[in-house]
Amino acid sequence: PTVAVVGCPFSGGQARPGVDLGPNALVEFGLLNQIKQLGWNVSYDGAKPFADIAHTRHDADDAVDPPSHNMKNARLVSAVCERLAEVVGQHAKRGELPVTVGGDHSLALGSIAGTMSKHPDACVLWIDAHADINTPLTTTTGNLHGCPVSFLLGLDGTDVAPFNKWAKPCLSPNRIVYIGLRDVDPAEKRILRENNIKCFTMHDVDKYGIGACVQKALDHVNPERTRPVHLSFDVDATDPSVAGSTGTPVRGGLTFREGHYICEAVAETGCLVALDIMEVNPTLGDEKLVEQTVAVGCSLARAALGETLL
Ligand code: ARG
Ligand code: MN
Ligand code: MN
Ligand code: MN
Repeated sequence: PTVAVVGCPFSGGQARPGVDLGPNALVEFGLLNQIKQLGWNVSYDGAKPFADIAHTRHDADDAVDPPSHNMKNARLVSAVCERLAEVVGQHAKRGELPVTVGGDHSLALGSIAGTMSKHPDACVLWIDAHADINTPLTTTTGNLHGCPVSFLLGLDGTDVAPFNKWAKPCLSPNRIVYIGLRDVDPAEKRILRENNIKCFTMHDVDKYGIGACVQKALDHVNPERTRPVHLSFDVDATDPSVAGSTGTPVRGGLTFREGHYICEAVAETGCLVALDIMEVNPTLGDEKLVEQTVAVGCSLARAALGETLL
């Protein structure tokens, strides 16, 4: 079996530079060899698939890419996600397991669209402090890393250019589940409620424990454990003391073990078909914090790909 690591050096879905350096930092830390050690063949795309897309490194040029429908860098985000969807879809169709390393979380619009092109019955586990389900109508920041889920679901306000040229709704609200939420915008709370989307907030993690939360989450989206699973992990789901080098840290997050437990439990299902490791920004924080965050990004990936403690 082959893992296809897709490094996507992209920061255009949010305002802070540096998250585009995430993929290279994880690869430099040894991610590819670490995955090989688990028994996988590993291929690595690097930045190649995205090299011909203009200013991938987010030179927020409002003249070239002016805000449209409240969204910042909409053309750039759309172009990169469209390409990522193709790349992830191609790997999936070859029977490989794509691991998308971001980059900011707007990329999950592309990676999940790619997964769905091969596995239309897949479900999504979204591990995050944030719900990332704002629409162009509700976003207060204009940052598209706060919006990818709304496009995947095709919510009101998402049928807009340039996204509607390629991004068709591909996920239904009962096929996504959240774990780790603790910073959800008022409009997002309404959207989650109105669409009956299952969420395990940090309150639920405290109340039931991570083991029960993951079991209930899987029971909801994948009761027979027969559906393919796409695991989209935003490292800010973990506490800032675990993975602090990230653009929108929120205190009160998952512990090191809780984060890894989620990945291990998904690996145990044998249903994993795609993984995202998102929002590592190696330019934020001191050297020690950066190394710790990069190491956590790598170890979460290993846990999801079958690394066990014994
Ligand atoms: N809800 C906020 C927004 O819409 C924050 C989103 C943070 N997302 C993330 N992928 N870190 O901008
Ligand atoms: Mn731009
Ligand atoms: Mn996120
Ligand atoms: Mn987040």
